[in-house]
Amino acid sequence: MKIINPESATNDVLLTTTTATTFKDDNGIDCTSASLFADPLKFAECIRPDHEASSCDNAGEASRDWDSWVRPRYKSYTKDECITPEVVSNKGTNFAISGRGSTVEATKELRNLLPMIFQKYNIKTFLDCPCGDFMWMQLVTNLNQVQYFGADITKQTVEYNSHCFESSRVHFHVIDWSCVIPPPVDLLLVRDVLFHLSTSRVLGILNHINQSGAKYLLTTSFGSFSQGVVAVDNYEVLEHGVGYRNINLYGRPYNFPEPIMQANESRGRHVGLWKLPIETIEF
Ligand SMILES: C[S@@+](CC[C@H](N)C(=O)[O-])C[C@H]1O[C@@H](n2cnc3c(N)ncnc32)[C@H](O)[C@@H]1O
Repeated sequence: MKIINPESATNDVLLTTTTATTFKDDNGIDCTSASLFADPLKFAECIRPDHEASSCDNAGEASRDWDSWVRPRYKSYTKDECITPEVVSNKGTNFAISGRGSTVEATKELRNLLPMIFQKYNIKTFLDCPCGDFMWMQLVTNLNQVQYFGADITKQTVEYNSHCFESSRVHFHVIDWSCVIPPPVDLLLVRDVLFHLSTSRVLGILNHINQSGAKYLLTTSFGSFSQGVVAVDNYEVLEHGVGYRNINLYGRPYNFPEPIMQANESRGRHVGLWKLPIETIEF
């Protein structure tokens, strides 16, 4: 874990504690972070649909692609039981329904970083989209100090998570990032998904993130700000289906600045923390 620029991080804290994001939806519902913290059941009403977005696939093809990716995994792993880190460890294995990047082992640095971010940036509301199987998140210290909203494009994931893990501080919703602008939470986590999606979808999602009024973004990138972009990064993947490439958010068209903090992860990727909005993206 690396704190890259502690001075600017301190300034950010001052900024966020003195400027509250105000937002009322079309029905006049108070959707500020403070209000969602007090009444998390308002979350769904505070999601703004954007079905006109060019990346929004109203036919639901994207969700069908991911349903077919996830369905066999639930079948072979869960056998109708709720998978906790303890269940996995008792089986003497190291797996996650959401894939090899989502195991307890693979998320060690990020699990250490998250409580530090909660404290340093006074995080009260936290949207994790996509949340996947919510397994490693169960081990995050101090998660009960925030209102946690997990969301995913697949209904099966959300139904399983709600059945197994819903509580007064943990809530799940079906969200397709391409079609909605989420409420102005304090912290957004968008881990291990952008590298699967086409550039137009990634840009559509980043546009929604920027419009959300959320304060901080944690997301996955390869490369680093100082190294810039290398020739093989950011090539296009198929518009449909579950693609893959090593996305480098420091390269074009994303042009991310240096992150405030980061947790290094396997395969040369990391999860970086940025203050929102990110104004350098070429939409
Ligand atoms: C590799 S998993 C990562 C899960 C989780 N972020 C983690 O770190 O364990 C990718 C997840 O992205 C979800 N997903 C794909 N496209 C999405 C979209 N447009 N909106 C929301 N979730 C999406 C999939 O259903 C899947 O659960």
